[in-house]
Amino acid sequence: MSASAARPTPPPLHGDPQPVLVVAHLTKRFLTAEGPLLAVDDVSLDVRRGEFVSLIGPSGCGKSTLFNIVGGLIDDYDGEVTVDGQAVNGPHRSIGMVFQEESTFPWRTTLENVVFPLETAGMGKSERLTRARELVKLVGLEGFENRYPAEMSGGMRQRTAIARTLAFEPKILLMDEPFAALDEQTRLLLGDKVLQIKDALNQTTLLITHNIAEAVQLSDRVVVMSYRPGRVKRIIAIDLPRPRTSEIVGSAEFGGYVANIWADLREEAAKGLSESEAVGAARGAHG
Ligand SMILES: Nc1ncnc2c1ncn2[C@@H]1O[C@H](COP(=O)(O)OP(=O)(O)O)[C@@H](O)[C@H]1O
Ligand SMILES: [Mg+2]
Repeated sequence: MSASAARPTPPPLHGDPQPVLVVAHLTKRFLTAEGPLLAVDDVSLDVRRGEFVSLIGPSGCGKSTLFNIVGGLIDDYDGEVTVDGQAVNGPHRSIGMVFQEESTFPWRTTLENVVFPLETAGMGKSERLTRARELVKLVGLEGFENRYPAEMSGGMRQRTAIARTLAFEPKILLMDEPFAALDEQTRLLLGDKVLQIKDALNQTTLLITHNIAEAVQLSDRVVVMSYRPGRVKRIIAIDLPRPRTSEIVGSAEFGGYVANIWADLREEAAKGLSESEAVGAARGAHG
């Protein structure tokens, strides 16, 4: 019997019999020069309709690997990913991905970026312009419709990327550290925008992050991952009232959640740190 077969299947997380996204027993190995590397080990989680779930873990714990598998960009893995009961094979219209790297088209204005998926979907011109304007407004870029990405801040470009992804009307918005390159204040304020989107669209969202405050600020549940191999260490329900804003960051309850998650994450981050220091020391010794 394999190790993963010995582990019990976790119960449905929120008592919802039919979650939108189900990740079941996901395992991914990479073949590297040093041999096989177990990046993700038997990860199971589900996301209910309208729920905001964050996946948090130290660098190298397999978050982006999971993101790529759920988004259909990696197809060689064990386990199963389903959206509304259908297996995900290859890039999937029902999952909209927002990447850590900026991905706006530099030659298109904000409005032209957001309108792009509607154009390719064959939506009529006036309808798609109306829809794109609504989305631009939703992400707080009203007045910047005709700016090019180079004329805006990093945070504004990421909001453009989010609006463009939302134009597909994905069942699940999947984001991999979309705000990692931004300063803390911008990140908190962008969090407010993300919360407004959730409230306006009831958007089901899976956010990948290594930022604890961001995870607590935004989420209904936080999935803490262990350092390599990436496993689900703990799932924490965030029972803070909604609608939320970044003001909540100052509350004692918020601090309690952050401390709690840090206690879990600290151990994992320390493993990652000592491993990378050992690699650094070995490299130093060899050359
Ligand atoms: N294509 C790949 N080939 C080999 N190893 C990979 C590949 N992609 C990721 N890895 C390894 O898998 C582990 C998890 O990576 P990743 O999912 O990017 O982690 P995270 O996003 O949590 O920082 C890391 O050790 C990384 O080096
Ligand atoms: Mg990553």
